[in-house]
Amino acid sequence: MIRTVYLEKDEVVILDQTRLPLEVAYARLDTPEKVAQAIKLLMVRGAPLIGVTAAFGLAMAVDKFTGSKEELVPYFKKVKELLASTRPTAVNLFWALNRMEEVFNSSLDEDLKQIKDKLKQTAEEMYAEDIKINQAIGENGSKLLLRDSRIMTICNAGALATCGFGTALGVIRAGFAENKVRKVWACETRPVLQGSRLTVWELMQDGIPVTLITDNMAGYVMSRGEVDAVIVGADRIAANGDTANKIGTYSLAVLARHHNIPFYVAAPLSTIDFSIESGRQIPIEERDKDEVRKIRDVYITVPEADVFNPAFDVTPAELINGIITEKGIISPPYKENLKILKGK
Ligand code: MRU
Repeated sequence: MIRTVYLEKDEVVILDQTRLPLEVAYARLDTPEKVAQAIKLLMVRGAPLIGVTAAFGLAMAVDKFTGSKEELVPYFKKVKELLASTRPTAVNLFWALNRMEEVFNSSLDEDLKQIKDKLKQTAEEMYAEDIKINQAIGENGSKLLLRDSRIMTICNAGALATCGFGTALGVIRAGFAENKVRKVWACETRPVLQGSRLTVWELMQDGIPVTLITDNMAGYVMSRGEVDAVIVGADRIAANGDTANKIGTYSLAVLARHHNIPFYVAAPLSTIDFSIESGRQIPIEERDKDEVRKIRDVYITVPEADVFNPAFDVTPAELINGIITEKGIISPPYKENLKILKGK
């Protein structure tokens, strides 16, 4: 299994996803500023992976801290804020940083070395837990698939978006192992092409049959009766089940409903934000206009063209047939059933 992030000596090492699929290259980040920048630039991306990378960044920063214990508290807060300011939509980022803060606060009576060790250990635990969670999501989601299914997905909710195995692609991986997946339709996912660059690469590495389409081909492929299910990841799920995911997900959900194709969201429970009632409250990241104006470094429009570049959209709960989590599959009504699952 390819490692997407790890802590080595005093550096956070990340698989640089901006260079895939042309190059499998790692970047070494030796300051929290560099970790924050790598998250902003999508060198690491995907909701669960952003969270764990930020946790490693925080652990690294504290590990390198040479001041007094009194100075450590404001320093911790400053680094946490820096990492939290990178991307607004994926709630896993804030979840992971808050978990690190809880550990930090509860170990403040201990000596500096113990605090440092605990933070590193917590980040490592999150990494290992994420893989287990994804395997459980895969196992649960695979039960929904019929033999020989053709599955459409968007963006990359795979091993590359997590610490391993993936969420939506975890379901596909588990299903493929049980002969339930005949092929995957990967939407290329403009503007930054996580589908064509990452999902296609990742599935081909594992020998899972994948066919690439541009985003505007999805409806036609569905109309030909060649899609049995749509499975996507999530960046934040509101308490009522409304789900933010990569821009284009909402269009797929509308198309899937029109063609009577089940539409599933696969995500860990840490992606559910019980503090917000509906998708209207999910902050949607807007990114640099040049992501739309260019592909890699080449302009594909007038350089001064006006552009709107939201990175995510919100799929209303009523278009989602099920939310696949590590604790089981949640069906509508989501407001009630998410609450029940949280309590388990
Ligand atoms: O902008 P990205 O590449 O971070 O967007 C990623 C997605 O939208 C994923 O589908 C989501 O984070 C789930 S990853 C398991």
